[in-house]
Amino acid sequence: MARRKSGPVRKEPWPYTGFGVNLIGREELKEVQEVVRSKSLFRFYGPDPRHKADAFEAEFARYIGARHALAVSSGTAAVHEGVAACGIGAGEEVIVPPVTFIANITPVLLCGGVPVFADVEYETMNLDPRSVREAVTPRTKAILPVHLLGFPADMTGLREVAEEKDLYLIEDCSHAHGASLRGKKVGALGDIGCFSLQLNKMITSGEGGIVTTDDDRIYDNAVRFHDHGYNRFSGSHAGPLGLNYRMSELQAAVALAQLRKLDKIVEIVNSNAGYLNPRMEQLGLIPRKIIPGSRPVHYSIIYYLPDEIKMTAGQFSELVREEGVPAGQVYSGQPAYELDIFKTRATINRAGRPFTDPLNRFRKIRRCPVLERALKRAVSLPNSTNYTRKELNDMVAAVEAALRKARKQA
Ligand SMILES: Cc1ncc(COP(=O)(O)O)c(C=O)c1O
Repeated sequence: MARRKSGPVRKEPWPYTGFGVNLIGREELKEVQEVVRSKSLFRFYGPDPRHKADAFEAEFARYIGARHALAVSSGTAAVHEGVAACGIGAGEEVIVPPVTFIANITPVLLCGGVPVFADVEYETMNLDPRSVREAVTPRTKAILPVHLLGFPADMTGLREVAEEKDLYLIEDCSHAHGASLRGKKVGALGDIGCFSLQLNKMITSGEGGIVTTDDDRIYDNAVRFHDHGYNRFSGSHAGPLGLNYRMSELQAAVALAQLRKLDKIVEIVNSNAGYLNPRMEQLGLIPRKIIPGSRPVHYSIIYYLPDEIKMTAGQFSELVREEGVPAGQVYSGQPAYELDIFKTRATINRAGRPFTDPLNRFRKIRRCPVLERALKRAVSLPNSTNYTRKELNDMVAAVEAALRKARKQA
């Protein structure tokens, strides 16, 4: 790759990074206009209901290959639904990944459960079934993997542990809409799949989420939990205790149009990765491992530094940024168990619940050495549906320039 004589590789501003958001257009507008004109912004009734949430759920369930889908108000709500619908309660342990967004973990605490961190496989940065097995205790009730940054976790290995130990398998699919393992989409690989539709996600309604399941009982629990104990589909108002996590018709209208673009979105982001990978490998970088039989969606593009580069991924990504190309560490290089909230254990209630509950054994956090090692070596580059060859070539040139500087500094 030719190197410019002076200044950074990239002089122009970097384009907006996102997926479905960049494809919002006439189709979303048409769906939203229909809902606004109908004045029926609530999914269950209105002057002239359009049933966009119903349509979104039916199409999403079909897309994922699940019996049921339930649209909710956010991805956090979706994970809360997953944990609550599996009946996780006081003192029950849920095994979670040590590298993820906090919403993958907080719903466990808010259900009274105890998140337990297990380590990852170095090359995939997804939960390692062997470490999960070691983390199981008689109190364990579920495993809650994330398909981190679009790469399917080893669901075959995790399912083996789940079946052997009689645990629920709750998938956090917030980064992985459209990814699959052995021909089955994520969201159809566990007992319940939880998706976010927030603006940065593969498809978006600004805020929003959806859960998928084949299990009639889990689905009924999820429906009731998201609507104050009501199941308006079956006409039952019997409880149990629930909240309001309903999706509005406006969100559903956008989500429906976005869903119809998902395959195209996946194709674009994966073809960006397909262009970058051989070029980065030629420079010596090591792509993140894709597990056999899986088709990821490249939510971001991760490379491990070669051994000859002694500096950390944090230092290296700073060199890439100096070239005008965004780069960083996976989740800023911070294991989830080092997030401030797990240190301060701040709560709004003065009693400090749930951290002070007698059954809450969250006090003892297991460190994950494999993850800590991986975070120091993995450099994360963004991916987007609006990157052209220019952005991709600039990424390669910026990495090449950073490698040159890193070798000089060694
Ligand atoms: C892994 C993971 N789980 C859950 C969520 C929560 O989604 P939301 O922001 O829609 O509440 C996110 C969102 O960023 C996420 O990355």
